[in-house]
Amino acid sequence: MSELNNIALKILNNGKGILAADESTATMTKRLESVKVQSTAENRLLFREILFSASGMTEYIGGVILYDETIKQTTSKKNKIPELISTMGSITGIKVDTGAKVLAGSQNEKITEGLDGLRERLKDYYKLGAKFTKWRGVYNISKEHPSKLSIQSNAHALARYSALVQECNMVPIVEPEVLMDGEHSADECLEKTSEVIKRCFEELILHKVDLKGVILKPNMILAGNKYKNKISNEDVAKLTLKCLKDSVPSEVPGVAFLSGGQSEIEATENLNLINKYNDTNFIMSYSYGRALQQSALKFWSKDIKNIEGTQKIFNHRAKMNSLAALGKWSKELEN
Ligand code: 13P
Repeated sequence: MSELNNIALKILNNGKGILAADESTATMTKRLESVKVQSTAENRLLFREILFSASGMTEYIGGVILYDETIKQTTSKKNKIPELISTMGSITGIKVDTGAKVLAGSQNEKITEGLDGLRERLKDYYKLGAKFTKWRGVYNISKEHPSKLSIQSNAHALARYSALVQECNMVPIVEPEVLMDGEHSADECLEKTSEVIKRCFEELILHKVDLKGVILKPNMILAGNKYKNKISNEDVAKLTLKCLKDSVPSEVPGVAFLSGGQSEIEATENLNLINKYNDTNFIMSYSYGRALQQSALKFWSKDIKNIEGTQKIFNHRAKMNSLAALGKWSKELEN
């Protein structure tokens, strides 16, 4: 087994998943201000340290994705954050793209930046303890979107990123996120997401990326948030499986879904059904940001000294998602 494949499996095996705590400072500021906490470097660290030192980390969280600020921070006990994560039995990851900017030639779409100087930054992150990385491409659905230009240029960037990351002995998370915003149906989401993912893998193969050492982080197949009808969770699971079966090469060891604005319970329930019906060889797990942190953040914001209470809520969410990654979750377990 290759070293990279080994890392990917360690992150996702046995119902473990990923805690995406890599919100940029701008996004984290939005999240903190939404619960009326001031967004200072100290407060951002305070909340994240509470999560990273929770007991649920050991059993349920195989990897944590950090933001540049956090990977360089030191805990209240004077440990480096990657040391804390590793003490808890989890693996440190790092977001390495520098964000999505307007795509020249298609003003309503985005291209993710960060390739210039990436090799040097990767070497630094590796020295800081990172074993895996993340890059997010973002696509929106409308009649004419995602355009061929956006699909092609983001796939190219994801492939160049992945090749560089593997060269530096880390596992790239390939995240092509097709947003749920819009009036589109789930069938349209299926069609566009499949096209996006297929194009990504064509480029990864062209760039000689070892697919056994990659984790795919896709969206689930959902109807747009302004679509006229609601689709069932069963349909979400079945369409998502159809999409991945058609578009992901069999060498890829695992898939870790983003939550993308689903509620905590929805994200858990859908993941559980995906695993119940999973007839592929892919591990199907989670790499959730909001769906792992929302309730914990809300609770914490009321009393930022209540570490234990906050950890209890986080542990519960992590456990529920871990059960879902094994297809063993049920609604009754939420109480
Ligand atoms: P959400 O689960 O909140 O969508 O975040 C996952 C992520 O890392 C988006 O890039």
